Amino acid sequence: MNTLTAICPGSFDPVTYGHLDIIARASKMFGRLIVVVASNGAKHCSFTPKERVEMIEKCTKDLNNVEVIHYDGLLAEYAAQRGASAIIKGLRAMSDFEYEFQMALANKKLNPNVETLFLTTASQNMYLSSSMVKQIASMGGDISSFVPEVIKQDIMDRIYIKK
Ligand code: COA
Repeated sequence: MNTLTAICPGSFDPVTYGHLDIIARASKMFGRLIVVVASNGAKHCSFTPKERVEMIEKCTKDLNNVEVIHYDGLLAEYAAQRGASAIIKGLRAMSDFEYEFQMALANKKLNPNVETLFLTTASQNMYLSSSMVKQIASMGGDISSFVPEVIKQDIMDRIYIKK
């Protein structure tokens, strides 16, 4: 039995099939996977941290070794607190690489005991992003291909602007 702990961070505003594919794959590689709803200072979120945690919980309830939490501090410090040995990120395309590389190096400097591991995003999710889902939802488009049914209405209720 693999007893290692990994953390999977993101702003998840909202979680999409792209994130969920990475979470499901990472949960098979580690004894415990902690999904961390964190803050990206550069982003204004549409959902509160509690709402983002609840949406991820609804979508991951069948994954027994997955825990979902909100943390507002430095990820590297949270990894140290939980004894996590890895930070898992999904890598979409070359455009993600520079930003992810920078974050991985900064996290390594702050916590030398944690490795950042990149999983390649599934090809069908390469183009997906939370912003894209929100843009489609705001115009009343069908987001069924991008997010699970259990959170679809939560997203539409918040984002769809009826004209
Ligand atoms: N498939 C499809 N889309 C994906 C994806 C996947 N596998 N993984 C991520 N995305 C999308 C996300 O939906 C997001 O879309 P958006 O820009 O429209 O919101 C985009 O890719 C970027 O996601 P991600 O790389 O996870 O960045 P983020 O901004 O959501 O999260 C944090 C960044 C929160 C992880 C980072 O800022 C952090 O660690 N903060 C904590 C504080 C800290 O420690 N800061 C120092 C870091 S060195």
